[in-house]
Amino acid sequence: MSERISVDLGERSYDILVGAGLAAQAGKWLKPLVRGPLPVVTDANVAKLHLAALLEALKQAGLEAKPIVLEPGEGTKSFRGLENLCTQLLATGVGRGGMIVAFGGGVIGDLTGFAAGILKRGIDFAQIPTTLLAQVDSSVGGKTGINTAEGKNLVGVFLQPKMVLSDTGVLATLPRRELLSGYAEVMKYGALGDAAFFEWLEANAGKALAGDEAAIVHAVAHTCRMKAAIVARDEREAGERALLNLGHTFGHALEAATGYSDRLLHGEGVALGTALAFRLSVKLGLCGGQDAERLIRHLKAIGLPAEIADIPGPRPSADVLLEHMAHDKKVKDGKLTFVLLHGIGQAFVTSDVPREAVQDVLAE
Ligand SMILES: NC(=O)c1ccc[n+]([C@@H]2O[C@H](COP(=O)([O-])OP(=O)(O)OC[C@H]3O[C@@H](n4cnc5c(N)ncnc54)[C@H](O)[C@@H]3O)[C@@H](O)[C@H]2O)c1
Repeated sequence: MSERISVDLGERSYDILVGAGLAAQAGKWLKPLVRGPLPVVTDANVAKLHLAALLEALKQAGLEAKPIVLEPGEGTKSFRGLENLCTQLLATGVGRGGMIVAFGGGVIGDLTGFAAGILKRGIDFAQIPTTLLAQVDSSVGGKTGINTAEGKNLVGVFLQPKMVLSDTGVLATLPRRELLSGYAEVMKYGALGDAAFFEWLEANAGKALAGDEAAIVHAVAHTCRMKAAIVARDEREAGERALLNLGHTFGHALEAATGYSDRLLHGEGVALGTALAFRLSVKLGLCGGQDAERLIRHLKAIGLPAEIADIPGPRPSADVLLEHMAHDKKVKDGKLTFVLLHGIGQAFVTSDVPREAVQDVLAE
């Protein structure tokens, strides 16, 4: 069973395929797009579990795959990591008119996409994302890049892949906490713009996360379809795409305050940030308390954090969190931008939020 989503961006349009077992069919799908050597960039964790099968599939299709295995972790998404990857890519002999495959989570996808965008002034790339976060979020929409000492994702380019193959089967080996962290992004789409999908998730997310094929394929495909539609209308985040930052102003501050450590994964920050966005919306009289409670109930049922107290270790203070928010990329004219809600599925962007209300929500 598989689903196809078309990302409609004129001459940069491409398809996302979602289904179990797609990595084993990668040769069939990539063959028409590839000429010459085919670098396959991955990390050591994914390589151990899934690389042999992918290489075999590519070989069967007559493709000359050249694996490049990088160190796992956010540290690889750096200038040093980029230099190392470019050196290894050049050694494969891949040329303009060739293709590079990113086979891994968001770290591998973001770094490889950026390298593809600048190597020899641009080489096509395809994504085979292997984390739930990468399947529903980082592989859709064309943002690529690396982190610098100044912050995350500050250097990069927009570059759309030629194809995305999201194999839901490989999610079976993902650590549970990584799976749930990726699920936060799925939940976010229901919360921001699709109440019916949110309701479907309340009933089916448990099944999807336990590996039920039909349920996980639907959850991934529906989320990709929603993101693709928003990106098609606003590729460069001039307007509507900003809705996708639901939970992120709070989430980023929480991630920064916990030192981007194991205490809070990105998706956990998004889940908790979404709960706080609902609480702030209720405090400002924009949203009914029942909707906030419903969202929080769902996060708790799935096993995602819904309160600041759910973060292990010392609680970050409201002042520290506000200080981090003041440095957020999304601050304009000294005003914080939030995605708030009129209810489940009804998000909107606003800069009109009194600081005291934010402080109260953070201190509660
Ligand atoms: N480009 C975008 O639009 C966008 C959007 C959201 C996030 N991101 C970026 O994505 C990155 C986070 O992505 P991520 O959460 O996928 O992290 P990740 O790439 O670090 O993967 C998480 C961990 O899971 C391991 N892993 C990957 N696939 C596996 C599998 N199938 N089985 C077992 N282990 C597996 C990895 O080795 C790693 O240890 C961040 O750098 C973030 O900035 C980008």
